Amino acid sequence: MNHDIFEKNSLILLIGILIVVSIGGLVQIAPLFWVDSTIEQVRGMRPYTPLEQAGRDIYVREGCYNCHSQMIRTLRDEVERYGHYSLAAESMYDHPFQWGSKRTGPDLARVGGKYSDQWHADHLTDPRSLVRESIMPGYPWLAAAPLRTDDIKPKLQTLRLVGVPYTDAMIESAERDLKAQINPESRAARELLTRYPKAKIVLFEQRATKEPSEMDALVAYLQILGQMVDFATFDASGPNLR
Ligand code: HEC
Repeated sequence: MNHDIFEKNSLILLIGILIVVSIGGLVQIAPLFWVDSTIEQVRGMRPYTPLEQAGRDIYVREGCYNCHSQMIRTLRDEVERYGHYSLAAESMYDHPFQWGSKRTGPDLARVGGKYSDQWHADHLTDPRSLVRESIMPGYPWLAAAPLRTDDIKPKLQTLRLVGVPYTDAMIESAERDLKAQINPESRAARELLTRYPKAKIVLFEQRATKEPSEMDALVAYLQILGQMVDFATFDASGPNLR
């Protein structure tokens, strides 16, 4: 055939490649201009509570993402080890997302509910006290470090600016909600639950004062990972999407 035109003339080959690649690119990119959102809304997703959000910031500060991913791929070995593959909606309120790119330790996308709060507090303080061969560093200062609480309101306000649906009431009561999540008997804790379904009160022994520590925040964050969407009823074909 006339194939040899391309094979003998590199300029024509180059133009040919550009045309073919552009068509491929358009087919991928053009539909995105006509869809409202590339993230399907899934029932159960809610913004992080103030304490969980503060814990997320500590997770980022301490660089946990250097060793832990939060993205279960749709491959059988991953799903059998970690649980249902991650949905885009599960990180829709993460700014920035914590998918990570390296797994020195296991994926944490569904670690919530796997262990007790006490286990996490002990493990973060001294990983080798629970997992003898662990190479994870300890973070023993977290339980003694008071959590900064005066910046939580502007944090939530900033997140709202980039699309996280915090309501006025959530922002108004951010500091109270932050403290309520370590205080099981309080009325504030019950109010917290009406604003943030499935929020868990953090309970472990190392707590030195009645004020939340950085450990409280980090444990609250770890415990909600993968817990918002109910995978017992989730059906990717549609009925569970909002
Ligand atoms: C140098 C790499 C490294 C860093 C940094 C690191 N980890 Fe780990 N992590 C590991 C390894 C390896 C394991 C598996 C052994 C173990 O359980 O200790 C692990 C295990 C865990 C587990 C238990 C997971 C499971 O399913 O059993 C949690 C939770 C965890 N890490 C949280 C954190 C948090 C939070 C931080 C940041 C404060 C952090 N890790 C920082 C390497 C790391």
